[in-house]
Amino acid sequence: MTEKRTAQLNVNGKDLELAVKSPTLGPDVVDISKLYAQADVFTFDPGFTSTASCESAITFIDGDKGELLHRGYAIGELASKSHYLEVCYLLLYGELPTAQQLEDFTNRVTNHTMLHEQMMQFYRGFRRDAHPMAIVCGVVGAMSAFYHDSTDVNDPWQREVASIRMIAKLPTITAWAYKYSVGQPFVYPSNDLDYASNFLRMCFAVPAEEYVVDPILSRAMDRIFTLHADHEQNASTSTVRLAGSSGANPFACIAAGVACLWGPAHGGANEAALNMLREIGSVDRIPEYIAKAKDKDDPFRLMGFGHRVYKNFDPRAKVMKESADEVLALLGVENNPTLQVAKELEKIALEDPYFVERKLYPNVDFYSGIILDAMGFPTSMFTPIFALSRTVGWIAQWKEMIADEKQKIGRPRQLYTGAAHRDYVDVENR
Ligand code: SDX
Repeated sequence: MTEKRTAQLNVNGKDLELAVKSPTLGPDVVDISKLYAQADVFTFDPGFTSTASCESAITFIDGDKGELLHRGYAIGELASKSHYLEVCYLLLYGELPTAQQLEDFTNRVTNHTMLHEQMMQFYRGFRRDAHPMAIVCGVVGAMSAFYHDSTDVNDPWQREVASIRMIAKLPTITAWAYKYSVGQPFVYPSNDLDYASNFLRMCFAVPAEEYVVDPILSRAMDRIFTLHADHEQNASTSTVRLAGSSGANPFACIAAGVACLWGPAHGGANEAALNMLREIGSVDRIPEYIAKAKDKDDPFRLMGFGHRVYKNFDPRAKVMKESADEVLALLGVENNPTLQVAKELEKIALEDPYFVERKLYPNVDFYSGIILDAMGFPTSMFTPIFALSRTVGWIAQWKEMIADEKQKIGRPRQLYTGAAHRDYVDVENR
C-alpha cells in the first residue's frame, strides 16, 4: 500500500490537506482540483509554468537533462533506429509494432492519402500569395465538411478512422498548399512510395519530367517528421485538448492546433529563425544581434533559442544539427553561409552570460530551417511541415483525453481586476 502523501496549505484561516501524486518520471504534483470547493480560492499561474493540465502516458521531457521520451523511448534512438510511421504507431497505441502490425498500419495510412476531389476547389479560393499555414488551417478544418462518417467523438471506431485520415492526408494537404503557392499543378499521392518520399514527390514533381526521390532527402524528411511528432502539453497540443474537451469534432480540434502552432513563439519559430539567420547574413554581424537579443528595450529575440521546459540542449536540436551537417554535405552545400552563421551564433550565445544564466539553448526550430531550405522548401513551408509532423502527436493526445472517463470540459477561472459592479449612466449624463 503506497503511503498517502499530502501537502498542507493554510489559506484565509483554513488548514487544508492536498493530495500529492507521484508520476513515473518528473516532479510530484499537488492535486488542487478540490481547492475552490474547499477554500473558495483559485490558484494563479498565467502561462501554466507550474501547472500540470492533465495526466498523460505519451511523452515525457526532462528539461534539466535535455531528455525527450516517447512512450519511454529516447528521441535520439527513435530518430536513428526508427522511422516516422513506426513512431506514429508508438505514439497512438503505446508500444512499438510487430512487423505485421507495422505493415497493416502503413497500408491503412497509405490507402487514405487521397483527398475528396471536391476539396481541391478550396485551394482556388485562396490568393496565390496566401501563407500555406492559412491554407492548411482552412483545409484541415474543412475536412469535417467531407468526412461526416468520422466526426462522432463518442464512437471509438470513428475516432480511429478520423485519426488515420488526418495522418494520411496532411502530407497531401500540405504539399498542395505549396503547389498552389507556386502555381504548379497538384500531384496526387503515389501508393508505392513511403510516407516521406510521397510527400517530397507531391511537393517537387512536375508533369514535364520524371521525379526520382533522392534517398538522402527522403531520410532527412522522415527524420524531421519524427523529431517534431509530439512534445507533451505544448501550446498547440493544449489547444487541441481544450478544443476536444468541448466535444468538437477531431478535424476542428486539429485545425485549432494548426492555428496555435503558427505563432512565432511556437512552431512559427522555424520560419523566423531562418529569416533571422539570413538577416544576420555573416558571422561578423552576430555581436550586433546578440546585443539586440539582450536589450530589454528591443523586442528582438534569438529565434530558435530558449524553451519553456528545456533548460539544457533540446535533444531534437542536437539530432537536427547532426542531420544538417550530413544532409548539406551530401547535397554538396556544406559551406552554406547560413549554417556557418548558425553554428557561430550558437557558439557565441552559449558563452554569453545572458544566455548561460537564463539557460537559453538552441531548440528544435534553430537548425530545422537550414535543412528544409537546403532541401528546396521556401521558409513559408517550414511551419506547415511542422504541423504535418505534429498531427500524430495532437491526435494521440486528443485520443488519450477523449478516452479518459475523468475528462471534462476545460474551463479555467481568472484573477479579475476589472471594475466592481456599477450602474448604467445615460449618455446625456456622462
Ligand atoms: C517550440 O513548448 C514546447 O514544447 C514547444 C515546442 C514543441 O515541440 O511543441 O518545443 C516547439 O515552440 C520551440 C520554441 C520556439 N520558439 C522560439 O524559438 C522563439 C524564441 N524563444 C522564446 O520566445 C522563448 O524562449 C520561448 C517562448 C520559447 C519560451 O519562453 P518562456 O518560457 O516564457 O521564457 P521567458 O519568455 O520567460 O524568458 C525567460 C528569460 C527572459 O529574460 P528575463 O525577463 O529573465 O530578463 O529569457 C529571455 C527572456 O527575455 N529569453 C530570450 C529568449 N528566450 C527567452 N532572450 C533572447 N532570445 C530568446 N530566444
